[in-house]
Amino acid sequence: MATRPELLITGAGGQLGQALLRAAAARGGAAVGLGHAELPVEDRDRVRTELGQHRPRWVLHCGAWTDVDGCEADPARAERSNALGTAHLAEACLELGIGLVHVSTDFVFDGRRTTPYLVDAPPAPLSAYGRSKWLGEQAVLRHGRPDFHVVRTSWVFGIGGKNFPRAILARARSGQPLRVVTDQRGRPTFATDLAEALLDLVGSGAPGGIYHAANQGECSWHEFAVAILAAAGLDQVPVGTMTSAELGRPAPRPAYSVLDTQRLDTVRGRPMPHYQDALRRYLQEELR
Ligand SMILES: NC(=O)c1ccc[n+]([C@@H]2O[C@H](COP(=O)([O-])OP(=O)(O)OC[C@H]3O[C@@H](n4cnc5c(N)ncnc54)[C@H](OP(=O)(O)O)[C@@H]3O)[C@@H](O)[C@H]2O)c1
Repeated sequence: MATRPELLITGAGGQLGQALLRAAAARGGAAVGLGHAELPVEDRDRVRTELGQHRPRWVLHCGAWTDVDGCEADPARAERSNALGTAHLAEACLELGIGLVHVSTDFVFDGRRTTPYLVDAPPAPLSAYGRSKWLGEQAVLRHGRPDFHVVRTSWVFGIGGKNFPRAILARARSGQPLRVVTDQRGRPTFATDLAEALLDLVGSGAPGGIYHAANQGECSWHEFAVAILAAAGLDQVPVGTMTSAELGRPAPRPAYSVLDTQRLDTVRGRPMPHYQDALRRYLQEELR
């Protein structure tokens, strides 16, 4: 009989899914990664079949439609992928006695605060993406299971991913002028560090519920762009400023979405590294 894997990772082709597969392998754990095509979570029957076949101890749910402006244009698809799909996983996990970690987002908050969001701060999403992720959270939390977790994170960048550092470096190298928004603040998060934190959480026996996970430090997107260029040795490239209104993206973003990570830091006995440190490690890998 095949060994029962410890972990099953959805959205395994994405930034976090890939980082989790690497981190689990480095720890010597058995993990199965299923990409979007292998497990489209909005398909209830496929979810039940795959989970029933693999019978992992934990599902780490990283699959999501993360195109925030795409979600705004097609909220029904966002809901199918991010809310209904998560509900299917929660039901199947409940039935099969599997623990569940649903990775969620800082975009469940409206960004009107000026101090970090605690895990029990009331969500008030501004965008279709944020609403669909919040519905997904509720589909997990409503079961009140001690091994069902919602882990909100923010501003994720991972090796090989389509992300902000990659976009900034490409733009800087193309010689085109660079202008970045100053009126959104958050906490950048390296997928590699987030993966370690998630593995620690599932190994900890910590109570079910909401956790926040992000690298230490906070910045605006403009400050983050300046840090990326400095870390890549491109600090001679000028970075102009702009407002979110000038950028005019279809989906509204929270102006302030700094997550308070204390609950998870306490479980792990340490915070995640500072984002500047994470950025150096990311660039070392990415520019190799
Ligand atoms: N990226 C961020 O800045 C950020 C910030 C906060 C929270 N998060 C959350 O963190 C998690 C991981 O994000 P990430 O950065 O790794 O995103 P990502 O790189 O976009 O990866 C998401 C993966 O999910 C897959 N996927 C999309 N729809 C799916 C579906 N219906 N069923 C199964 N898989 C599906 C995607 O496949 P295709 O590409 O083939 O569609 C992709 O491989 C997500 O839950 C996201 O909401 C991300």
